[in-house]
Amino acid sequence: MTQDELKQRVAAAAIHYVMQAPAGSVIGVGSGSTANLFIDELAKVRHHIKGAVASSVNTARRLEGHGIKVFDLNDVNEAIPVYVDGADEINARMHMIKGGGGALTREKIVAGASAKFICICDESKLVATLGKFPLPVEVIPMARELVARKLAKLGGVPKLRVGFTTDNGNIVLDVAGMAIEDPPALEASINQIPGVVTVGLFARQPADVLLLGTAQGVKTLTA
Ligand code: A5P
Repeated sequence: MTQDELKQRVAAAAIHYVMQAPAGSVIGVGSGSTANLFIDELAKVRHHIKGAVASSVNTARRLEGHGIKVFDLNDVNEAIPVYVDGADEINARMHMIKGGGGALTREKIVAGASAKFICICDESKLVATLGKFPLPVEVIPMARELVARKLAKLGGVPKLRVGFTTDNGNIVLDVAGMAIEDPPALEASINQIPGVVTVGLFARQPADVLLLGTAQGVKTLTA
């Protein structure tokens, strides 16, 4: 089975969690190629939901293209029951690296506003130790060199994502060479660096459920 087929299956499997949400809910929707497939599946059940909060401009466009209403998070007063998104890496404790597509800040915000995080991935994303995938860090442009030096002190090799600006007008440093043994601790340390907007470690608020696409079918994992 191809990687795209595995992504397709987990995208379809996530609809179960949308249908578990009360009818007329606003749900949270992530970004990336797996999330895009989920949006296409969501279109088939769009009458069950009132709409969605998007974690990127691209996601908002795709949702709207399917006739799904996109809400500004500030206009949503009720609880968001579920957030569905992919990941670049995930471990058995449901800690993730995200931000390969650069949408990490809005992803963390919408995930933080949601009651349940459903992570959808093909099996290549499940790892024993996070960090082979370079860790994305969104940074205020004027702090680029300062943050890069601090990240190097933490043992990483930061590299500017050239020609890329986030939806929030910031830059991204991709930090290679980190074997992340304690993801919640590293997330907290990087959050303390002045100029860091968001680190793409999602460990202090991990996923609640991982739908993992494997050759044997979709596996449901929890921490
Ligand atoms: C976007 O910024 C990321 O956090 C994505 O969730 C992540 O890169 C997964 O993307 P794919 O589903 O395309 O692998």
